[in-house]
Formats: sequence, structure tokens, C-alpha cells
Amino acid sequence: MKQYCGAVNDSSRKDALITAFHSLDQIESSIWKGLSLAPTEVLHPWRLPALGTNSEEGCELRTVVLRSCDAATRTLYAHTDLRSPKVLQVEQHSRTCWLFYHPEQRTQLRIIGRTQIHHQDTVADQFWTESDPTSLNLYRAPHPPGTVQPGPDPNLPLEIRGRKLSREEVEPGRDIFVVMATRIESIDWLRLDQAGSLRALFKWDDENQRTANWISP
Ligand SMILES: Cc1cc2nc3c(=O)[nH]c(=O)nc-3n(C[C@H](O)[C@H](O)[C@H](O)COP(=O)(O)O)c2cc1C
Repeated sequence: MKQYCGAVNDSSRKDALITAFHSLDQIESSIWKGLSLAPTEVLHPWRLPALGTNSEEGCELRTVVLRSCDAATRTLYAHTDLRSPKVLQVEQHSRTCWLFYHPEQRTQLRIIGRTQIHHQDTVADQFWTESDPTSLNLYRAPHPPGTVQPGPDPNLPLEIRGRKLSREEVEPGRDIFVVMATRIESIDWLRLDQAGSLRALFKWDDENQRTANWISP
């Protein structure tokens, strides 16, 4: 009996899932909504994606903060330090991959695009000016990320550790502040569900023409 009820629930859940995600356009708009909300919602799981780059060693992955998503231009933005190895990797191989996972919605996004490095230009200036100084203190780090140290080292001058910095105090960091901007070429959307997982692939060509397909999960 319990199993039978389960079967009814599974079947109605499956119907509900297909009703909720019946259209590729609707899924695409839910993706842009999530990506646009994530940067301003501290607890949104899509705020902390993994960014993948290519290097001579192979694939490199790291967590970054999604700072902004511009749905109109299909661009994702993150901040970084000019001296971090990923900057050179992106300059050498501009195709990058972003991985997002939402545990409550059990939804994964695998996004591929071309990434551009913005340093001391209008994009970098705009992000610097619009960022809260508390998110810019890292750019006062004296050593390039990855530098070997003789002991535990937070890589921040003693006088600015553990407190909120003013805009004037973070200002010297502007020289090494970089914005990575990824122009999205494809989004692979996957929603896992025991009642039936669903997966869709969106691609855009150089003329911004979209192709959208359901694909097997
Ligand atoms: C929660 C979290 C958020 C992070 N956000 C960023 C970020 O926005 N930009 C960044 O360059 N590194 C960020 N990092 C550090 C990177 O994951 C990585 O350790 C660092 O950038 C060095 O990477 P690289 O050697 O590949 O350049 C973050 C790490 C964590 C744990």
C-alpha cells in the first residue's frame, strides 16, 4: 500500500515537474533570474560558483564570488587579483567554464564562454567604484596569490587586518584589481529529480542566435 501511494506521488510529482518546466524559454528565463539575483543574495548558492580555466597543467578550478550577471549581454563577472595565475591562464586560453549548483532546487548549470580580463579600464573602474570597500581589502595583499611563506600568513598588512577598511584605505589595491567578464556561449541546465530529471542545452552563435534543445539527463 505504501509503495502504491509512493507510485501515485511519483507520477504526480513527475507531472508537476514537467508542468513546471514545460518550456525552454521558461527555463532560460529562470536561469537569468537566478544568476541575476545571486550576486546580491549572500546565501544564494549560485553566488559561489566554481570557475574553470585551462593551463599547461590541464584544467584548473577554484571558487569565486559571482559579482554580477548581465542577462542582456549574457555576461558573468567576478573580481580577482592581477597577479593570480588564473589571469594569465585566461589571457592564454579565453574559453572558461563556470559550474553552479543549487542544492534545494537540485539544479546544476554548466556555463561555457569567452572571458576577458579588465584591468585599469572603464569596466574595472566601474566595478571598483560600485563595490563595498569591505570586499576590496584583499587587494592590499603584499604578495601575489600562491607565494610560498615561511609560516601561516593571511597576506594582509598587520595594520589593516580584522577590521573594515575605508575607501581611502583600499584605494592602493586598485592597481592590482581585475574584473573577469565571461560572455556566455552555452548553458547546460540540469534539474535532478527522482520523478524524472530534466536537462536542456542553450547555445548562442556569433550573431547571438540561440538554439535551445532538450537533451538526455
Ligand atoms: C568562498 C570563496 C570565494 C572566493 N572568491 C574569490 C573571488 O571572487 N576571486 C578570486 O580571485 N578568488 C576567490 N577565492 C579564492 C580562489 O578560490 C582561489 O583560491 C584563488 O583565487 C587562487 O586561485 P588561482 O591560483 O587559480 O588564481 C575564493 C575562495 C573562496 C573559498
